[in-house]
Amino acid sequence: MRILVTDGMDKAAMETLRGQGHEIIEQFYEPDQLGAALREFDCAVIRSATKIRAQQIQEAKGSRLKLLIRAGVGVDNIDVEAAQAAGIQVKNTPRASSRAVAELAMAHMFSCARNISIAGHTMREGKWEKKAYSKGFELCGKTLGVLGYGRIGQTIGAMAQALGMQVLAYDIYQVDSLECPTMHYVPMDEVLAKADIITLHTPAIEGKPFINAETIAKMKDGVVFINTSRGNNVDEAALLDALNSGKVRAAGLDVYATEPTPCPELLAHPHVSCTPHIGAGTVEAQARIGEEIVSIISSFQV
Ligand code: MLT
Repeated sequence: MRILVTDGMDKAAMETLRGQGHEIIEQFYEPDQLGAALREFDCAVIRSATKIRAQQIQEAKGSRLKLLIRAGVGVDNIDVEAAQAAGIQVKNTPRASSRAVAELAMAHMFSCARNISIAGHTMREGKWEKKAYSKGFELCGKTLGVLGYGRIGQTIGAMAQALGMQVLAYDIYQVDSLECPTMHYVPMDEVLAKADIITLHTPAIEGKPFINAETIAKMKDGVVFINTSRGNNVDEAALLDALNSGKVRAAGLDVYATEPTPCPELLAHPHVSCTPHIGAGTVEAQARIGEEIVSIISSFQV
């Protein structure tokens, strides 16, 4: 196969594919050039920076392109319906990054609980604000609300239980969780009302963001909010208002409505711990993603 890799990929996986006789080209294309470029490849591997919309599919339609692989969980940056209608298969790597994303969400929880982000920031400004940042809280004994209880949600549930937290989960699908056997499924409103910390692990949900002024109003006063799922699940203006009023004590954010240029007021807020969409950004997760991609390509049939 001739394979286009637009946003980087694990080196060992690329070597394996080359060893199997595939040709790999690493190149990022701007949206207006991507569709024409895709025509020259059998397969494209993308992460989140590349968006393959109906226009690019239309431009690539009828060419040798037969397979799009999203190196990650969410396929919201690919118009899957348009691709399938054009005879192009779409695959993702749903299992590889659960632990990495769950650990980042935990890191943001610790950061919010102990003011790590802002304390580090002020130290780099030459300040020693020990008193201001000595009023943290412990995660042990707190209630964690997990919205979206799939692979990532369950992994974080197990981590939270190991820390002595109580876990309340909401999902439209209810499964027996092997990762976190003693958590409880409850209605979403109960998660909102009872959780001290709420973490979001749903896919991108179309339409009005489901974390908005109304759902935030149902949360406990002083709740901590973590989002490592998708930025468009959250009404960022409502979140900013809630941070300013103290309704939300702190937020840990890895994803934003407008990537790669997030709302500057959110990033600058002293009670926001932020990272630039690096949930899957561990060496281990990228190696596992690479292995999944090799396996998808090896078993691919037109
Ligand atoms: C995912 O959907 O798995 C992540 O957003 C991957 C990424 O970092 O692009």
